[in-house]
Amino acid sequence: MASMESAADRTFRLRWERWSPDIRSGLAAVHHDRVDEVLARVETILRSAAAARPDDLRELDEARLLRPDWLQDPSMMGYVAYTDRYAGTLTGVGERLDHLTSLGVSYLHLMPLLRPREGANDGGYAVADHRSVRPDLGTMDDLSALAAQLRERGMSLVLDLVVNHVAAEHEWAERAIAGDQKYRDYFITYPDRTEPDAWERTLPEVFPDFAPGNFTWNERMGRWVWTTFNAYQWDLNWANPDVFCEFLDIICTLANRGVEVFRLDAIAFIWKRLGTTCQNQPEVHQLTQALRQAVRIAAPAVAFKAEAIVSPDDLIAYLGAGEHHGLVSDMAYHNSLMVQLWSSLAARDTRLTEVALDRFAAKPTTTTWGTYVRCHDDIGWAITDADAAAAGLDGFAHRAFLSDFYAGLAPGSFARGLVFQHNPATGDRRISGSCASLAGLETALTSEDEGRITDAVARHLMLHAVVMGFGGVPLLYMGDELGMLNDADWATEAGHEDDNRWVHRPRMDWDLLAAAEADHASPHGRILVGMRHLIGVRRRTPHLHASVESRVVPSPDPRLLVLRRDHPVGAMLQVYNFSEQTVWVDAQPFADALGPAAGDLISGHRWNLATDRVSIQPYQPLWWVADR
Ligand code: GLC
Repeated sequence: MASMESAADRTFRLRWERWSPDIRSGLAAVHHDRVDEVLARVETILRSAAAARPDDLRELDEARLLRPDWLQDPSMMGYVAYTDRYAGTLTGVGERLDHLTSLGVSYLHLMPLLRPREGANDGGYAVADHRSVRPDLGTMDDLSALAAQLRERGMSLVLDLVVNHVAAEHEWAERAIAGDQKYRDYFITYPDRTEPDAWERTLPEVFPDFAPGNFTWNERMGRWVWTTFNAYQWDLNWANPDVFCEFLDIICTLANRGVEVFRLDAIAFIWKRLGTTCQNQPEVHQLTQALRQAVRIAAPAVAFKAEAIVSPDDLIAYLGAGEHHGLVSDMAYHNSLMVQLWSSLAARDTRLTEVALDRFAAKPTTTTWGTYVRCHDDIGWAITDADAAAAGLDGFAHRAFLSDFYAGLAPGSFARGLVFQHNPATGDRRISGSCASLAGLETALTSEDEGRITDAVARHLMLHAVVMGFGGVPLLYMGDELGMLNDADWATEAGHEDDNRWVHRPRMDWDLLAAAEADHASPHGRILVGMRHLIGVRRRTPHLHASVESRVVPSPDPRLLVLRRDHPVGAMLQVYNFSEQTVWVDAQPFADALGPAAGDLISGHRWNLATDRVSIQPYQPLWWVADR
């Protein structure tokens, strides 16, 4: 009887009516005739998760339903850190929140912290137990407590959810090894090389250096196991609905602990199809849709971020293309923008960036980018030969130039990076290194040349101005707020010696932060002050709402990148000088866009555009709006 229905039951019923058809269609595309059975299991999981949802998180759910564009707001500011490297433990992080507040952080991504396997664990991306926290970092209760503390400060907790694989030591894998057929079906295994060889014909290699091939022989099972990444990371079989139900339950449990955003690690790889690269298959999006809409029912406050480091043509689908519009991830990494920033900086030429950014179809207006300069991973030169050719470059030669440049091998290079995963088959050489070291601060400080230091500081700030101005959640990588350099001791820690990505995963240097605070004129002080300033300006700028696209405007000079945003409050032009030269250009196109005068929001200066020419300073970022 409807009158007997409790408020909580009514809420569940309404949400189920609203979103279950989208769960059903996602599941039906993958599980076909089993869809009713799977949907019934999904409902059971969601009912118990909804019933267990703590009161304060229910309130957050209501607040988010009233502000569905919360992730798109210019006040969103991300920060990405390893718990131990930032503050030792989860409780330690709670004691170090003032620094994040001083930066205006509203989104905190703590790198993988669920219990990984012992020994090598790919920086935590080999999870052995989804129900406990890495013991040296704390407990699940510490995680809930930290999430609550963050919420009080208006910060959302973001965690990795590694959906493609688990550690070979995970209970599911152990049971599979022990011969339990239910758990064998969680993985993809073969008795001999016939099928692996057939798959290998079209599969790329993710870690050609330390994990060649995509399959690993398991002696105890006497079978080949699908392992896209390292030998100890076992790919999951998402064709099995049990895997879907397990993950739904894990997400709901963590969401009820206070996790607000899930970073879906290696999401592109979860569906395998013979004769393909086994990335970006349509089923990936069907499954994401089912998962996303299911989580909406039990925890509407939660959002998904896709970690899909794929080509622009494939990327938009992760934000919802066609039938999936508005139904999959809320956010995705803009890997291409990141790569292009570094390419333009080395080349002092933005033409390739123009071509690459122009390739992007508009994303759904309800979604947002995760924009970033650096992250915990290496930089791979995701530049296609076609894009390079359209910019008058040879793709292979340009990628080789970038690797040489950032490894510090090219003449005139200001960068100090390391080559990661040299693949002799393709010639690819990826690059590790911190933002400041890649942008020239390390060499400049060694040279003690004030001009070079000024350039390096300006480069560091300008790159960040682009990601803060692009529209999306800027993801500030720990240490970059003050220009921390490469960690010279990266290889001395046990287990890190073979993986030079640790060169840009330092421990937070609190002494350097204190010194930067004490001396704002020092190089690190200038970066810190400049970053805080940019973040503050961003927060006050409605033009930066992520529902609006940044579009490339053909630049009047190859050294400049010009972006335009057409927000209903008015047009905004952003100009970035990717060179150490002063660039003079015709003012007329800018006046046509903005009128006779513009205000630069970053410097606060008024620009007269009713003139012949304007000059853009070395590495200057400009955020121009019409000045009335
Ligand atoms: C993602 C992570 C990377 C990890 C991989 C495998 O790409 O960012 O660090 O190696 O997934 O989980």
